[in-house]
Amino acid sequence: MKTNYNDKRVLITGGLGFIGSNLAARLVTLGESYTLVDSLIPEYGGDLFNICAIKDKVAVNISDVRDAHSMRYLVQGQDYLFNLAGQTSHMDSMQDPVTDMEINCSAQLSILESCRKYNPTIKIVFASTRQFYGKPDYLPVDEKHPLRPTDVNGINKMAGEWYHILYNNVYGIRACALRLTNTYGPRMRVKDARQTFLGIWVKLMLERKPFEVWGGAQLRDFTYIDDAVEAFLLAAAKEEANGKIFNLGGCEVVSLCDLAKQLVAANSGGTFQEREFPAERKRIDIGDYYADDRLIRAELGWLPKVNLQQGLAATLDYYRTNLKNYL
Ligand SMILES: NC(=O)c1ccc[n+]([C@@H]2O[C@H](COP(=O)([O-])OP(=O)(O)OC[C@H]3O[C@@H](n4cnc5c(N)ncnc54)[C@H](O)[C@@H]3O)[C@@H](O)[C@H]2O)c1
Repeated sequence: MKTNYNDKRVLITGGLGFIGSNLAARLVTLGESYTLVDSLIPEYGGDLFNICAIKDKVAVNISDVRDAHSMRYLVQGQDYLFNLAGQTSHMDSMQDPVTDMEINCSAQLSILESCRKYNPTIKIVFASTRQFYGKPDYLPVDEKHPLRPTDVNGINKMAGEWYHILYNNVYGIRACALRLTNTYGPRMRVKDARQTFLGIWVKLMLERKPFEVWGGAQLRDFTYIDDAVEAFLLAAAKEEANGKIFNLGGCEVVSLCDLAKQLVAANSGGTFQEREFPAERKRIDIGDYYADDRLIRAELGWLPKVNLQQGLAATLDYYRTNLKNYL
């Protein structure tokens, strides 16, 4: 991987967020020049603490991706764009659908227009989501599964993803998309469930409070952050990824109740209560999901390496030391 990133200029939108900051931390071990763009809107996952260990090695630009003038300037001269800035909360997208559309849909189109006009040789990897498959017709879900978003966020992320593929196909701006499943690990947002329910579970457990598991029989897969970062690096480096969409999965499939038990075991203590989904969540829930990710394994050689037991232990280790910085 080193040869691909050495001497390259890399822009990460959402670079102060969970995945973006972990990607930046990995990239500073590989290459030269990195710029992280983030708006630091308080309800989202961006946090300067996420990059405290690498702050002297990256340039940070506090800009909003909806600002076409900033983005026009920022994309210029870059070799790679990891396009991760996004509004991630499904509930927020229902309460404020227009903001979700502006960030996850309109701003994506405007970033691509900046690339088309000012840097058409850039390579882009877009952080997409498995959410807009909707309630699966079959499991595991492969990339050919119908797309049936169940919330506003899903519609906007789907449009954002397809703008990238369209610009690849029509204008030759090399782009691909990773449909992420639940991604977890150090630097995820834990103060609430806006980014992931696992975050609030970890916070409450470390505060010695019970956490709630909604719909405990539901099946899910999880990608540990280091494995997700590896997928982004492979997708950027490999030309065969261009124009393609790849599911990411994990090492195992687990029910939410078993996940909660594994988390408690990894912490050697903790309690949780099972509950029905609240009605407003149930309406947008997708039910059981796990990915068929054979395509990225076969075409890009991606292989998740960190199982749940290892990933949960590493996550808890991080927040035992750093929780106070995330509250
Ligand atoms: N974490 C997951 O499980 C998961 C699953 C599916 C898809 N994704 C996608 O991956 C991407 C990264 O997610 P994450 O988990 O790191 O969440 P995150 O909230 O930590 O990261 C998103 C970052 O984007 C920034 N951002 C939001 N709006 C912005 C704007 N208008 N301008 C500039 N920056 C803005 C936020 O401040 C934040 O730092 C998102 O696009 C998300 O939709 C994540």
